[in-house]
Amino acid sequence: MGAAMPVTYSAPMTQSRPMVTTTYESRPLDESRIIRAQPVYKGEAPVYQGLGSAEPSMFADIPEAAPDAILSLATLFKEDKFPQKVNLGIGAYRTEEGKPWPLPSVLEAQLAVCQDPTEDKEYVPIDGKPEYKLPVQKLCFSDAAIASGCVATAQAISGTGSLQIIGQFLSNVLSCTTLWIPNPTWGNHTAIFNRAGVEVKKYTYYKPSTRGFDFEGMIEAIEAIPSGDAILLHACAQNPTGVDPTPEQWVVIVGLIKRRGLVPILDNAYQGYASGDLEKDGFSMKLFEDEGLEYFIAQSFAKNFGLYGERIGYIHCRCATKEITTAVLSQLKILIRQAYSSPPRHGAAIVNKVLTTPALKEQWLNELSFMAQRILQMRDALRGEIEARQTPGTWEHITDQIGMFSFTGLDTNQVKRMVEEFHVYMTKDGRISVAGLNPGNVAYVAECIDIVVREA
Ligand code: LMR
Repeated sequence: MGAAMPVTYSAPMTQSRPMVTTTYESRPLDESRIIRAQPVYKGEAPVYQGLGSAEPSMFADIPEAAPDAILSLATLFKEDKFPQKVNLGIGAYRTEEGKPWPLPSVLEAQLAVCQDPTEDKEYVPIDGKPEYKLPVQKLCFSDAAIASGCVATAQAISGTGSLQIIGQFLSNVLSCTTLWIPNPTWGNHTAIFNRAGVEVKKYTYYKPSTRGFDFEGMIEAIEAIPSGDAILLHACAQNPTGVDPTPEQWVVIVGLIKRRGLVPILDNAYQGYASGDLEKDGFSMKLFEDEGLEYFIAQSFAKNFGLYGERIGYIHCRCATKEITTAVLSQLKILIRQAYSSPPRHGAAIVNKVLTTPALKEQWLNELSFMAQRILQMRDALRGEIEARQTPGTWEHITDQIGMFSFTGLDTNQVKRMVEEFHVYMTKDGRISVAGLNPGNVAYVAECIDIVVREA
């Protein structure tokens, strides 16, 4: 292992902006810091001699893994025969009737894509179709930033796939082997980055006593993060807490990240769900741009286009110069080629059709706002129902929190009762997907919360 080497570079970002100088600690890869998947064989692997032999399976010692904490809830819910069952588990939008909602704008775009005689089934470039990039960049960056040619963009497999490639980039290309994530965060973050060989540590984010944001705690934690480490932030509508910094707090956080010389990664999975307005929800991303920082964005279209199963998203990396942008994109392409060669066509074509057809785009924005409003109404309704029962505790957090989720404050035992006795499916950490509530089930859910809280 060689010695750590501070690398300083100055990046003139735009003519109107001052020179930005950042010092990163460039470290050689330290194998001992990398957490790798543990081999499941304890001793020597058995010699496989074919079915029916003394050693009939080379898979015999493989233990069964635990089911995924979020996705398995959907299966349990489906299998449950209880008539009043409620699914507040997975973060996916549901209608007032509790049904999935393929957005009408998206269905129309899909029809147009399917009927387009120029659409074929050929491979697309490793980083996606070049003509698709501008419309998706515009959701995250200013026109000036895009025109500067300093945004590297690659289509990816929704948010998870984008994060996976970014993780691999941290570890393989940047030799950045430590990432700091909020405590708590989406359950898959740690596993995604560990798999890429990145060690994951947590910074303070949530204050259980207020069920709100712990600004002081986060600032104190970031102050102690070594320069050159990566930090992950949710661009808006934090998952699972539904608790975001205020705009003023974001300014301080971004300034501090800049001063500390950290590598920012913005997980942008819920743009439009916090306020119903894409621009408002893009505030934190804009701040990183305005501060002249280099940063990654993992952009998912699962939630805001309702394209969950199409697995469509984009990786963006804002870079200091055009030359650096070209180099970064080339490395992203290497990683993508190794992982899955090139991205799928269909979801990307749909997103592009919506974003480049003015009438469809307007319709989509209205539908997005409608979904966000319905969730807000359900927050009001749930809080109202709980308070009407005078359930012990305070419940403002249900309406203070934003986005798709509410972090109810129910503990593990209370959640267990909600799921096992009352058939209200939610994650163990007490998170509910507010989108799963509707006028037909909100009173029942409130009643169940009332019971488990009183009987705790
Ligand atoms: C969630 O948090 O429920 C969603 O992001 C779905 C998922 O993949 O976990």
